[in-house]
Amino acid sequence: MDYQIVVIGSGPGGYVAAIRCAQLGMKTAIIEKYNTLGGTCLNVGCIPSKALLDSSEHFHAAEHTFKIHGIDINKPKVNLKQMINRKAEVVKQNVNGVDFLMKKNKIDVFHGLGAFVDKHTIRVEGKETKQITTEKVIIATGSKPSVLPFIELDKERVITSTEALELKEVPKHLIIIGGGVIGMELGSVYGRLGSSVSVVEFLDRIIPGMDAAMGRELQKSLKGLGFEFYLGHKVTDVKKSGENVIVKAESNKGEIVELKGDYCLVSIGRHPYTNGLVLENAGVKADDRGRIEVDEYLRTNVENIYAIGDVVKGPMLAHKAEEEGVFVAETIAGQKPHINYHLIPGVVYTWPEVASVGYSEEQLKEQGRAYKVGKFPYKALGRARASMDIEGLVKILADKATDEVLGVHICGARAADMIAAGVTAMEYRASAEDIARMSHAHPTYMEAFKEAALAATENRPIHI
Ligand code: FAD
Ligand code: NAI
Repeated sequence: MDYQIVVIGSGPGGYVAAIRCAQLGMKTAIIEKYNTLGGTCLNVGCIPSKALLDSSEHFHAAEHTFKIHGIDINKPKVNLKQMINRKAEVVKQNVNGVDFLMKKNKIDVFHGLGAFVDKHTIRVEGKETKQITTEKVIIATGSKPSVLPFIELDKERVITSTEALELKEVPKHLIIIGGGVIGMELGSVYGRLGSSVSVVEFLDRIIPGMDAAMGRELQKSLKGLGFEFYLGHKVTDVKKSGENVIVKAESNKGEIVELKGDYCLVSIGRHPYTNGLVLENAGVKADDRGRIEVDEYLRTNVENIYAIGDVVKGPMLAHKAEEEGVFVAETIAGQKPHINYHLIPGVVYTWPEVASVGYSEEQLKEQGRAYKVGKFPYKALGRARASMDIEGLVKILADKATDEVLGVHICGARAADMIAAGVTAMEYRASAEDIARMSHAHPTYMEAFKEAALAATENRPIHI
């Protein structure tokens, strides 16, 4: 055999799996169909979206809050071309970083479409076609945006997140179908740069995977940015008309709305991507939703083939894919790794940010579990007042009898980084009182975490 491990797909699942395999002494190769490594996350996902979120946040601050801070500037103007160029530079640094890591770990990289010939042989269809043999395969081919059958994506006016990261002008009116993570993040980018943003969401709430209080809080903030929400609306038609896009939707009360915008972002979720793999040549099974079926060891129905990341069940998140990459490498090496899927945090990088781990209040109600809630608003924090970031709250859910923390939900400045403390607390099965009795530096946003824990444990926050 040419290799012990061949990884197909170089996203955060695939490249991390390859590195861990190489660290564990396995002769490893990785196949990527695009010219750059890093997958969705580095090229058209996490990294470029955060680059634009940061740039647009600076613009928004320059336009709205500099003055209050005592900084007088002329009215700032958006230079979208430069913003997109900077984003491209950030992407380049990151994908080059993965190249470097492959070299450092002596992982052979093949650029081309990987297709199974049989369960031990992969054909790489690139500039030239090669066949490589391997003892084991890790499939990490990720996901692609989903679309409704009646929507024709022209990728110019009717677009997915990929095109939304490359626009040449700031939309006048951006219509977003789907009030999930992508819709709220990319809607925020263009909302801050001056677009009117309308969100058409099928359910009666935005970011439906999160605790409902977080969705309400974020919706309030985004309304402040000028977003219009059409919740409980089902899109029935999307048509391009010259430089406009007309979106029709029907509310759950049967009312019809018609929206006219110049761009329409379709962000209704993503689906696993296995095109071109020719799974049947290896006998690998996918389920009815196109996800590759795996057991608790992330092994497919074919004993030498594993699958990880967006192409298998579970949340479609880069850090989940990474954990699974490490898990599979260590399992193959004979170790006994573990992933606590319950404690994979979720983050929405809007302003304010939203971050969550563990159970939501709705899930606890559904389970019939007795719980306590502790909340603390950002506006009561000295640190938040100093920076004027007073929107949001920390909410901690704890077991009524044992005080064990069952869920941490944060909407507010720096929530994305703060949630790590919630993960640590829950991983070690801390009680709310454990958190409440730890010293938290003053003045920090983390004091809201301590205060929410105080509120959960004995309903005795200090500062409200
Ligand atoms: P991917 O990253 O999709 O990588 C799969 C790779 O496999 C691709 O490079 C593809 O070209 C390659 N491939 C596919 N088929 C073949 C084949 N047959 N042969 C060779 N190569 C193949 N997640 C977060 O955790 N945080 C975020 O902030 C975040 N932001 C996001 C923003 C956007 C706009 C989007 C779209 C996604 C975001 N995500 C985020 C989700 C995250 O990008 C994915 O969960 C993650 O990339 C999944 O990693 P993966 O390795 O499973 O697959
Ligand atoms: P999503 O699953 O987050 O949201 C999709 C939304 O569209 C849901 O609210 C859903 O109810 C709604 N929807 C579905 N069909 C609809 C219809 N016909 N009409 C109106 N609304 C409809 O999916 P999204 O935003 O496309 O993101 C895809 C994935 O990418 C996410 O699951 C997430 O895991 C990942 N991602 C993660 C990010 C992060 O971690 N910060 C950022 C961006 C993406």
